[in-house]
Amino acid sequence: MKNKKTIFIACDTTSQKKIKKIISETNSLKLNIGYKIGLEFFYSKNGRNFLSQIKSKNIFLDLKFNDIPNTCGAALKAIQDLKNIKYITAHINSGEETLRTIKRISRNKYKILGVTVLTSINKIHLKRLGFKNDIKNVVVCQAKIAKKLKLNGIVCSGQEIKKVKKICKNMEIVVPGIRLPGDKNQDQKRVMTPKKAFDLGASAVVIGRSLTNGNIKQNLKKLIKSLK
Ligand code: C5P
Repeated sequence: MKNKKTIFIACDTTSQKKIKKIISETNSLKLNIGYKIGLEFFYSKNGRNFLSQIKSKNIFLDLKFNDIPNTCGAALKAIQDLKNIKYITAHINSGEETLRTIKRISRNKYKILGVTVLTSINKIHLKRLGFKNDIKNVVVCQAKIAKKLKLNGIVCSGQEIKKVKKICKNMEIVVPGIRLPGDKNQDQKRVMTPKKAFDLGASAVVIGRSLTNGNIKQNLKKLIKSLK
């Protein structure tokens, strides 16, 4: 299992049937597959209930906590009945106090991944938000905070892997904004192929639409081939 590439499949849908299909069609001995459940499915009717029954050992609950410490801590307590969650995410921009609270409440039950500048943001968007630094430098600041607070890993785009790796040694680097060669970017701005992200040092990549739109089995074959 150790040398296998970890692929988190973003299960972005409200349909339980679709999630069942994604899980049953992505059984692969060649990859270490995990399932990322995000806001769309978690907020769907009965989504939370369904999530509690998923058997995979590699569930990544991507709720991207981003609120004051008290609210995030209470929200984390509120999902503690979900026993099968391995990873949770919090925006590093939620601040050090919030991240500390999440860590404290989590009591090492979950691996906490700090989310840096979203892959859907480009340099113009970031500037308009008032950031004076360019994207890489903002991500570097965020990575330093993640390191200082001893988060388990970081979520960043492929373009920042090299810089983040230097700071977050021994931490997991999870990379979304992944597209198979030739696929459209859609709303993502900072994209990369899975092979390039792994070559640069990602410990895992997140793939949604490139894998789940159209024929999932064929897309998975294409993914495996692209990694060679
Ligand atoms: O379909 P696509 O591959 O673009 O999906 C990417 C997934 O990764 C989505 O579920 C999105 O919420 C998540 N994500 C992201 N960018 C981040 C963090 C998470 O796209 N910076």
